Amino acid sequence: MSEIRDFEAKDKNQVEKLFLQLTGREVTINTKDLIGDQAVNCLVIEENEKVIGFASLIIYYLPTLGKMGEIEDVVVDEEYRGRGFGREIVEALISLAKEKKLKRIQLTSNPRRETARALYGKLGFEMRDTNVFVLNI
Ligand SMILES: CC(C)(COP(=O)(O)OP(=O)(O)OC[C@H]1O[C@@H](n2cnc3c(N)ncnc32)[C@H](O)[C@@H]1OP(=O)(O)O)[C@@H](O)C(=O)NCCC(=O)NCCS
Repeated sequence: MSEIRDFEAKDKNQVEKLFLQLTGREVTINTKDLIGDQAVNCLVIEENEKVIGFASLIIYYLPTLGKMGEIEDVVVDEEYRGRGFGREIVEALISLAKEKKLKRIQLTSNPRRETARALYGKLGFEMRDTNVFVLNI
């Protein structure tokens, strides 16, 4: 049986392993900062005491548009993919966004992430042709 719940400090090691699958590099989670930041809503999927998925919704306020959300760091353990968990956790974030009365959710996804892009399309996300500018600090 699987359940979707909030990320907790005890999940750190298991989620770091998932992030390795997502990014291809070691990621160290600063649990205190992550849990302490009210704007960052992190969910995990747990099955038989194993954390098999992670996704987050970052909430921020835009002066012209109001309350917005950004979905980040969606990943399902390789061994559990193709069983609907990805859809389930993103749908949970969409429900959370509705509860919190967000106006819009946006996300970015690299063209090589075919499954993720198919999933977002099926859930109603539309691709915007907006040029994104990034400055790494
Ligand atoms: C993206 C990811 C989270 C999806 O998780 P998942 O549990 O395998 O996804 P699901 O089983 O819920 O499948 C999602 C949908 O995509 C469809 N799908 C899967 N692979 C597909 C493909 N190659 N092309 C088209 N559709 C595909 C499934 O049929 C399913 O649709 P349905 O719900 O209508 O049946 C997972 O593949 C993953 O962790 N990938 C690596 C990290 C990543 O790319 N993260 C996204 C960052 S933007």
